[in-house]
Amino acid sequence: MSVGQLKIFSGTANRPLFEKICDYLDLPTGKMTVEKFPDGESFCRIEEDVRGKDVYVVQPTCRPVNDTLMELLVMIDAIRRASAARINAVVPYFGYARQDRKDEGRVPISAKLAANLLECAGASRVIALDLHSAQIQGFFDIPLDHLSASPVLDEYINSLGYDPEEVVVVSPDAGSIKRATKHVAALGGSLAIIDKRRKSGSEVEQAHLIGGPIEGRVAFLFDDMISTAGSICGAAKIVKEMGARKVYVAASHGILCGPAIQRLQEAPIEEVVLSDTIPLLPEHNIPKIKALTCAPILAEAIKRIHKNESVSEMFKTLNFTSGQYQ
Ligand code: R5P
Repeated sequence: MSVGQLKIFSGTANRPLFEKICDYLDLPTGKMTVEKFPDGESFCRIEEDVRGKDVYVVQPTCRPVNDTLMELLVMIDAIRRASAARINAVVPYFGYARQDRKDEGRVPISAKLAANLLECAGASRVIALDLHSAQIQGFFDIPLDHLSASPVLDEYINSLGYDPEEVVVVSPDAGSIKRATKHVAALGGSLAIIDKRRKSGSEVEQAHLIGGPIEGRVAFLFDDMISTAGSICGAAKIVKEMGARKVYVAASHGILCGPAIQRLQEAPIEEVVLSDTIPLLPEHNIPKIKALTCAPILAEAIKRIHKNESVSEMFKTLNFTSGQYQ
């Protein structure tokens, strides 16, 4: 099927990010009414013609997760019923991703369920960014472009001006080793890994550190997300106790729920670098937190997908500098 003009819409989850994407693409924000019925049910109405168009709908399924997910589903349903040629779900943060396997009896695989729901609603493609685990791509039977905010995080960290000889990149758990290795390639320095065991949804046990050296170094800890901040603050404390001179943490997704802000305030951390896949709440605006936009990465991917150009090539050939791409 030939794909027509590009149209882009958004739900309510992250309008500032959506507007930045539209700015980069030099496109008008698509007109859609998104609201709730008095009983809380999600509703939307597309206020312009999308018949035969290549439609992108931007919605991270972040807090309130069930509402933003349902809103995304009804938007996709409306776009499908309005006869769009192609529906691309742009999901900068994919909620439920951590429930990606049965690690005990009688529990759901909610990440797979969320993938099924998107497909069933009518998405023909998903554009995601730093999924909790790369295997989630296989939960979809439609194309999924998996992007990363790493170039933006690395560019900022490089701009701090530390000599690679004094840097150590720390993976806060075994699941993040591959991510940390890529940051070592971008930033230089050595690699260390923390042995983390999860005791519950909000409690972790962190004991040993492998690799290094740590003593006297500037440590950069990278994770995919900061939720209650237990993992990252525990890791920062270990690294500091082992003699790191300074500790910075960076993550693609700042969920920042429960005790996160208090933990981050009290932890021996210089700065918390996040991308803007999830909007910060007023209480998240503490001097330690620095949010960088990933809009150019998403926008460039949208442009390339629309034009049937390679997405992986953009990470090899473009420089994402200070929220701009060249
Ligand atoms: C775990 O596997 C993830 O990569 C994060 O480390 C974790 O989900 C962060 O959660 P919290 O901030 O609550 O420790």
